[in-house]
Amino acid sequence: MSTTVAVLAITALTLTTEGTAVAAVAAKAGAPGLGDPYFPLAGNGGYSVRHYGLDLAYDPGTKRLDGEATITARTGGKDLRTFDLDLSGLTVKSVRVDGRTAKWTRHGQELVVTPHKTLRRGAAFRVEVTYGGVPADVTDPDGSPDGWIATDDGAFVAGEPQGAMSWFPADNHPLDKASYAFEITVPKGYTAVANGVLKSQRTSHGKTTFRWDQREPMAAYLATATVGKFNVQSYKTASGIPVYNAVDPREAAEAAPALAEIPEILNWETKRFGPYPFSAAGAIVDHAPDVGYALETQTRPVYDRAPDVGTVVHEMAHQWFGDSVSLTSWQDIWLNEGFATYAEWLWEEQHGGQSAQASFDHYYASPATSGLWAFPTADPGSGENIFASPVYTRGAMALQKLRTAVGDRDFFTILKSWARGHRYGNGTTAQFVALSEKVSGKHLGPLFHTWIGTAGKPAKP
Ligand code: ARG
Ligand code: ZN
Repeated sequence: MSTTVAVLAITALTLTTEGTAVAAVAAKAGAPGLGDPYFPLAGNGGYSVRHYGLDLAYDPGTKRLDGEATITARTGGKDLRTFDLDLSGLTVKSVRVDGRTAKWTRHGQELVVTPHKTLRRGAAFRVEVTYGGVPADVTDPDGSPDGWIATDDGAFVAGEPQGAMSWFPADNHPLDKASYAFEITVPKGYTAVANGVLKSQRTSHGKTTFRWDQREPMAAYLATATVGKFNVQSYKTASGIPVYNAVDPREAAEAAPALAEIPEILNWETKRFGPYPFSAAGAIVDHAPDVGYALETQTRPVYDRAPDVGTVVHEMAHQWFGDSVSLTSWQDIWLNEGFATYAEWLWEEQHGGQSAQASFDHYYASPATSGLWAFPTADPGSGENIFASPVYTRGAMALQKLRTAVGDRDFFTILKSWARGHRYGNGTTAQFVALSEKVSGKHLGPLFHTWIGTAGKPAKP
């Protein structure tokens, strides 16, 4: 891990009024990444973002995206001479910092910005980046497309773990969460769906602009601006949460039964996990057969096809586990996927299906040679493995082991305190283990070591 900042600027000599020479504090270059072991260049050092204002225009015909990102940020404990944003592809037209033209260069996914003057430590600053082009999606280590993925009628937009940088300049690591405002202009007849609450929708001169507001903190990978020809359904749940569903007509009939469960899923998950963390909910059901996955985009998951109920339960469980409580490091991805998978097992158990223990037993029957046991749940080894079964299924199995070890009462207390204690923030595996021990008063080191800390099939279920 290197979260250090590199010393770039030469220490300057300044004359004080007394005439003695003193060394001014050396200004630094913010590191190009946060040192995540799996994605070392993800995120950037030296500052953190408070808010992204993303002004986008997309033409599904030419597939061209034009953007202006206004980023409000604050420097950390060091004066900052240069800093990076993550951006891949596209053409940068201008960068301004605090209203003044800034110098910039590009190295791979790093947009390196040199403001007209050094940013003082602890200071708020504003970056405006104007850019455009035909976005190229990012290919993840597991071979999946990620980011701005063009479809036959728009774009499927989902950024886990890296793809945000294919459509806006960002501090692209879940450690740096911020609020977002989107203003997305598309040709009339198309719908642009982002996160949070729809503030307005206006059509003039053949174009429609959608303004969306995501006030609670969000990791960059959870942002979306999915565009397509959609049927729109919006309503409020009994508890007052606005639901906005955008559905590709080609998927509408098949998606209807699962979407109809959204209010009940919200209700049920709130009972199991604690208060719903966000001020909006819903779903984007696209027709994007080449994508191959759904993503828990904040408040409003995006599905590449009509989902079944289990998938909706999974993506909505991520709103607590992954979105509100975010990863500190990608190797802890089981804190997202193991939990969302366990939510599916619990839903089944409590809706007339098999018990979570039966799901556990089913998977435990997998032979020792199965990929399920190929690497440790809590450290799958590299970005290539973060979406594999040892993370999802074995992660859920670990939670079932925890549940049987501590009992239902303590187990649900643990899940709720996890969601409450790290709400809108980040968590680590070590913190989850410590919380489980604290709530239950049991020594759980061996259990977690066996179920998330090692590879290989554990001897006894
Ligand atoms: N977090 C998503 C889910 O489990 C999966 C994202 C897969 N992304 C990828 N690039 N393979 O619902
Ligand atoms: Zn998931």
